[in-house]
Amino acid sequence: MSILSLNNMNVRFNTDDGQVHAVSDLSFSISAGETLGIVGESGSGKSQSVFALMGLTADNGETSGEAIFKGQNLLTMDNRALNKIRASKIGMIFQDPMNSLNPFLRIGKQLTEVLQKHKGLSYKQAFSESVAMLDAVRIPSATARMSQYPHELSGGMRQRVMIAMALLCKPELLIADEPTTALDVTVQAQILTLLKELQREFNTAVLLITHDMGVVAQVCDRVLVMYGGRKMEQANVDELFENPAHPYTRGLLKAIPSITEDLPELLTIPGNPPSALFDTKGCPFQPRCQQASDLCKTTTPNANSFSASRAIACHNTSMIDFAVGGTAA
Ligand SMILES: Nc1ncnc2c1ncn2[C@@H]1O[C@H](COP(=O)(O)OP(=O)(O)O)[C@@H](O)[C@H]1O
Ligand SMILES: [Mg+2]
Repeated sequence: MSILSLNNMNVRFNTDDGQVHAVSDLSFSISAGETLGIVGESGSGKSQSVFALMGLTADNGETSGEAIFKGQNLLTMDNRALNKIRASKIGMIFQDPMNSLNPFLRIGKQLTEVLQKHKGLSYKQAFSESVAMLDAVRIPSATARMSQYPHELSGGMRQRVMIAMALLCKPELLIADEPTTALDVTVQAQILTLLKELQREFNTAVLLITHDMGVVAQVCDRVLVMYGGRKMEQANVDELFENPAHPYTRGLLKAIPSITEDLPELLTIPGNPPSALFDTKGCPFQPRCQQASDLCKTTTPNANSFSASRAIACHNTSMIDFAVGGTAA
């Protein structure tokens, strides 16, 4: 049973230069206890997709389509109702905890407030639940940490506090937008392992945004690859790594940075991602695609389903048949 289903969601921004199509025709669903990764280069529409769900689209933006969370469309919900869901049913972790934690308030104050406000707990109850959650995210000496300020903690510890805060109300869905990007590799691995453990414990659905295929391989069950605001490919994680079909996915997989060599991302896909996404004809990846044909320049491919788990938006059918075990040579 899916707890969140997006149906043809669009996010558009009106700018002086024209309308930016940040997210186009995006559909996916996620079930309880599952980790869905959204992967793609910077500017591909990953963050705006989830901001739209949370009602955080900027004033010059507009959303359309559906995002059904437990039977209700988040995109048309009024602020009051959305606030309620945001606080208790959908948790969110951002890339930089310094922007999300209040630097002037002690950790304990920030945690207990959430529980007092949204769960109606007394201070005493809120305090002991907060300490328990800090323990759960493996923060040593949790009680002592409650009286510290964010700047007194390391980056990794602050990110753990953010996770604790997002999980305090036991949300059914956790949205994590590049949660480990600012951390060094070792801490990153620890945080991802922790997320996985907590997810099992609380049966949380996790929507994990990353530009890093290594992170996808480590924690995701299913993956959605985005480019130019559109879904390019969707698959179970094993399928994607064994048999990537979309030329963009193939490029991404070749570009997994190694831990020892500090290579710039995506060295192997020539060209740059579009800097702004105005409504253009054809496949957004077409200018960088080695397999592009005339059709790709004129007609945007739909993300067609090839099995329950697999969808691919590409006109190059021989590639697709190969990846889904079809008949083409
Ligand atoms: N307020 C805005 N006005 C105009 N364009 C915007 C606005 N916010 C985001 N965008 C554009 O939306 C696109 C998608 O951005 P984003 O979702 O942040 O990408 P990602 O998270 O994949 O790096 C980008 O081209 C970005 O410039
Ligand atoms: Mg982003």
